[in-house]
Amino acid sequence: MASYRTHRHDVLVIGAGGAGLRAAIEASAAGASVAVVCKSLLGKAHTVMAEGGVAAALANVDERDGWRVHFADTMRGGAYLNNPRMAQIHAQEAPQRVRELEAWGALFDRTADGRILQRNFGGHKYPRLAHVGDRTGLEMIRTLQDHGIHRGIEFYMEHTVTRLLLDDGRVAGAFGYDRERGRFRVFKAGAVVLATGGIGRAYKITSNSWEYTGDGHALAYHAGAELIDMEFVQFHPTGMVWPPSVRGILVTEGVRGEGGVLKNSEGRRFMFDDVPDLYKDQTADDPEEGWRYTQGDRDARRPPELLTRDHVARCIVREIKEGRGSPHGGVYLDIAWIREKLPDHAEHIKKKLPSMYHQFKELADIDITAEAMEVGPTTHYAMGGVKVDADSQMSTVPGLFAAGECAAGLHGANRLGGNSLSDLLVFGKRAGEHAAAFAREHGAGAIDDGQVEAAAAAALAPFERGAGGEGPYAIQHALQEMMQDLVGIVRNAAEMSRALDGIAELRRRAREVGVGGNREYNPGWHTALDLDNLLTVSEAVARAGLEREESRGAHFREDHPQKDPAFGQVNVAIRRGADGEMVVRREPLPPMAPELQQIIEEMK
Ligand code: FUM
Repeated sequence: MASYRTHRHDVLVIGAGGAGLRAAIEASAAGASVAVVCKSLLGKAHTVMAEGGVAAALANVDERDGWRVHFADTMRGGAYLNNPRMAQIHAQEAPQRVRELEAWGALFDRTADGRILQRNFGGHKYPRLAHVGDRTGLEMIRTLQDHGIHRGIEFYMEHTVTRLLLDDGRVAGAFGYDRERGRFRVFKAGAVVLATGGIGRAYKITSNSWEYTGDGHALAYHAGAELIDMEFVQFHPTGMVWPPSVRGILVTEGVRGEGGVLKNSEGRRFMFDDVPDLYKDQTADDPEEGWRYTQGDRDARRPPELLTRDHVARCIVREIKEGRGSPHGGVYLDIAWIREKLPDHAEHIKKKLPSMYHQFKELADIDITAEAMEVGPTTHYAMGGVKVDADSQMSTVPGLFAAGECAAGLHGANRLGGNSLSDLLVFGKRAGEHAAAFAREHGAGAIDDGQVEAAAAAALAPFERGAGGEGPYAIQHALQEMMQDLVGIVRNAAEMSRALDGIAELRRRAREVGVGGNREYNPGWHTALDLDNLLTVSEAVARAGLEREESRGAHFREDHPQKDPAFGQVNVAIRRGADGEMVVRREPLPPMAPELQQIIEEMK
């Protein structure tokens, strides 16, 4: 028998980013005893990479804004594959969640008359992003931590969950280990909230740090929950490309929101070359109008650099492929040019974009107030994830909830920048509230020793094979290279099929992975245990990508470059079949309430 410690809580939250913290705060406020388990240290979540702001129709900068416009923008940005009820709840509740955060101590930038300042971002019709310079996610995490830490929530830092435990189909807890000493833990819980973030580490170039190996996606999938929209992976247009050691680190969209422009090696603003029909009415056709927009001219239309991320990323790839890229394989992002417009431009840039100034100065020896940055697309966000009920965030497994990036539905085929921070506040709160209610109503399930033994045996298997087996890193790197090359920004059937063959072969190798040493401080062992999650989410992305034979949002197929109306009616859903195989099906979109349909028609 494996030895393990058991911890009992009403609600177990897995993940300590914004969604996890917000869920934990709400569950605790509802009277539940709550534990948060996180793979790394508190404060080190991908939430901090949403730098430019949190989207909420506060209408502080432009009073024409409101939840209806935010709803319509979100649906348009998501190419209408979004769950409309989620988009409605999100747009309606985001302002309340942002004000609440302010009441809890978040220090937002201010308008001249003292209200929360809002900036422009891609796809948002009006300036909508409440921000703290370019450190918004960081400020949000700080505030949520400060608020949550005093509520008696139990935190298990540097712990990894490897399995969910089930009792007759409902969730009853989780099995995991502490990363420092390798000791096993069983968390018994009435309800579990997954808030593990994304899958970025399945790719070679990513803004995600090491924790983002698709754990929540894979835990839910193995527990029998359904995943949807896995084909939609967001490549943020602007990550650093140089030096190689920092490739992929995010360069906030806030740079473009403040007037930064994209140029190719010929010095041309190539984003003017290709504006999608859906956005023609909103997009400036000359640089002067674009600048006026960033300066708050209400009659001006937005510069093409603020088109949706999927489109901007593809335009950048086109420039690079056609030989008009920068020396290190990117394009130029220039904010220094505003010296032509603002006499105090250097101070302005340092004030609005302090992290970007320091990031480029420290890491690339570039002064962004004087020189252009080199940037290129970086894997940033998974629109796909656990299918949840729009109101409660419960998955298709009773008692299992998901919120934030590992849940799906709100963003459809493409997420608008800033909508992730509001997503995790709105739906983190809802998940916490409903998880507490579920735990109260249903009590704790029974923990089955057989499941615990099986989880322990699987965790120890790499030691059984010992250092003689293949090490995990080569498999991880091969997967990242392959996903980058074959299931990246531009896809086709032949390459995705090759990727699926490659994933099957890597799975075979992963089953033979061995590690030496013991369970204490053993990163090789941790990586070996992450492999199954990475392979599971990669297979889901490739299978869903093959199924969707069209181009929409973040999913671009060069062999099917147009939208297909039939695919505009369905989400691609994935679940585990009876024999452990991945089953793919098309599911009709959730129905849209007539009043929401009307909003979309009016906004068009
Ligand atoms: O560019 C950014 O600041 C990222 C924001 C987001 O992903 O929401």
